[in-house]
Amino acid sequence: MTRQKTITAATLLRAKQQGEKTVWLTAYDAVSARIAEEAGAEVLLVGDSLGMVCLGYDSTIPVTLDQMIHHCAAVVRGSTHAWVVCDLPFGSYQQSPQQAFASSVRVLQKTGCDAVKIEGGEHMAETIRFLAERGVAVVAHIGLTPQSVKKFGSYGKRGKSDAERMQMLADAASVSAAGAVCLVLENIPADLACEITGTLDIPTVGIGAGSDCDAQVLVWNDLLGISASNPPFAPAYADLRTTMSQAISRWSADVKSGQFPK
Ligand code: KIV
Repeated sequence: MTRQKTITAATLLRAKQQGEKTVWLTAYDAVSARIAEEAGAEVLLVGDSLGMVCLGYDSTIPVTLDQMIHHCAAVVRGSTHAWVVCDLPFGSYQQSPQQAFASSVRVLQKTGCDAVKIEGGEHMAETIRFLAERGVAVVAHIGLTPQSVKKFGSYGKRGKSDAERMQMLADAASVSAAGAVCLVLENIPADLACEITGTLDIPTVGIGAGSDCDAQVLVWNDLLGISASNPPFAPAYADLRTTMSQAISRWSADVKSGQFPK
């Protein structure tokens, strides 16, 4: 498939400046990429959530760089014009800026995607600067950062106390100053996300962070009602789990009764 890039980091920045919302959606393979793009998603995020929604892990911690590359390359093959962002998985960037650069180079060269996403605020600013200065487009991710679930012990809301709120404002300012091109805000109070969005020049991307972010992102399986259960902030816009299950049950019954094939 020929990629005629029409959406870039500059497009997203311009949209923020013009007050236009942008639509991000996770995608994990060529089929989901094509459908999402045809339906209007402007950014395809190959999230390490794929570990939980596609690979059967109970967290994102076990996901490897090779697995991310495998899925991201498929998404890039399935897309023609979306901006494609690939998560760097746990352990592939936290050790040093050099490790993060080596992982980014592998992802960018092997998949053809446009940007990498890393979790963390102030403490990742040096790494973000190192990558940005070497030409890597970096999306930062703060708030609920699932790769730190073992440290926090839950997937609950972040930024509720005054201290956490102050830290999150500092995190947002420092990743932006370091050269991140977008900032994902996950599961934080809407008024905090609104304040961060108002102070930053770069676009914010909300998930469970209210309606004032510059963009919204959801996980493919949650949006389409494929997940067994959704987080409270992620409403399903379809019930594909039931639709798929009913189709398989009907076909199965037809096989058992001899009505398939006709
Ligand atoms: O991994 C993922 O899908 C993500 C989004 C939920 C933002 O990081």
